[in-house]
Amino acid sequence: MTKRREIRAAAARPAFILSGSQAGGLRRRIDRFALATMFHHTTRLPHILPPQAYVADDQFRREVAALFRDAPLCVATTMELAKPGDFLTMDLLGKPLQLRNVDGEIRAYSNVCAHRHCLLTSRTTGNSPKLRCQYHGWEYDADGKTAHIPQPKNFVPFDRDQDRLGRYRAETCGRLVFVTLGDDAPTLRERLGENFEPLAERFDERWASSWTWQTTLDVNWKIPIENSLEGYHIPAVHPETFKVAPTADRTTHVLETEWTLYRTPYVAPSAAERALFAVERRALRILRRTPSAGYSHYHFFPNLLVSSSDMFSLAVSVLPVSPTRTELRVRQFTYRGVDPNPIGRFVSAFWSRLNRFLARKVLAEDFSIYPAIQRGLAASDRAGCLGTIEERVHAFQAYVAAHTQYAAGPSTADSAARLS
Ligand code: FES
Ligand SMILES: [Fe+2]
Repeated sequence: MTKRREIRAAAARPAFILSGSQAGGLRRRIDRFALATMFHHTTRLPHILPPQAYVADDQFRREVAALFRDAPLCVATTMELAKPGDFLTMDLLGKPLQLRNVDGEIRAYSNVCAHRHCLLTSRTTGNSPKLRCQYHGWEYDADGKTAHIPQPKNFVPFDRDQDRLGRYRAETCGRLVFVTLGDDAPTLRERLGENFEPLAERFDERWASSWTWQTTLDVNWKIPIENSLEGYHIPAVHPETFKVAPTADRTTHVLETEWTLYRTPYVAPSAAERALFAVERRALRILRRTPSAGYSHYHFFPNLLVSSSDMFSLAVSVLPVSPTRTELRVRQFTYRGVDPNPIGRFVSAFWSRLNRFLARKVLAEDFSIYPAIQRGLAASDRAGCLGTIEERVHAFQAYVAAHTQYAAGPSTADSAARLS
């Protein structure tokens, strides 16, 4: 395992300080937090991936094969499959898939019948007691083997091992459900390593689901990922919602080989946001949660983005569909606490709506810039570059380049030549 690159350097005390007697403890926490700051790099960085990597078919195929086939892909929550017989269907990397609750256990099957290849069901969600094909009525058991075939004499001699449904690995972390398409891939726990338990806690029973949403965008999958990895665009793209990005002295970047992290203490530059922060602190007291006053954003390579604060956890799974088409599956939770009283439930429900409203607004602002990025990448003859504030983008591009077998060299022109 590579040594974690986390710079800890003394930095100026953050300008944001709460007023009032209650602020003392929080201020100390923020000051401690702010000591872990500054970027890893001090000079500009190459834009490792050439523009063609965001449009080219061959690069897309390499990425799907090298990055996604063996990766646990976050596709749902257990709440969406709460009862035995509940199912969800989706296309995952071009494979029709059915997720089912089988007697309390979540399992993933191919949604393609072993008889004559019809989709077992065309519904996207529902409940059916049996895993049954809609065309001729073949039924399958929990292992994907045939359980019932109408007029079975037509099919003798029958091969139950061959004529069975494909299965995929389904795993959970907290109430997030992951599916892995590759047979011999590492487990979800192996992939997440030290982050498994913290992530599970972020999505456990103390959190209420506040938003479940998916959409498809006409962009390469790396565009939403890279957009989320830097706050440099905040003043231009989010002038109303965020206004300013935290500066380097309020930022911690962790750059690992399989994931990166951005952390910042809570920043409230405007009176309105300070007021919101004060209300949030009251909500946390009602829900008996100790404030940490921090915001964090994880990127688990290749495609899972998890952002969180004291009151919300947001998982965004970015799933490639084609070189210029991407599905986003968004699952947001709001803190509810353990056994909340009526006031706590009211506060949590209120915060759920607020979190959903804010997340929708911020995502819509980001989505509005994607077509311009995709169009520019398709036409660009420039190498591009990255600033130190964008070093998480650089780390991600290095990961993509290393796994798709063209060198992450210092020159983007070099990478472009290898790709073409
Ligand atoms: S195609 Fe499914 S039962 Fe015939
Ligand atoms: Fe953004």
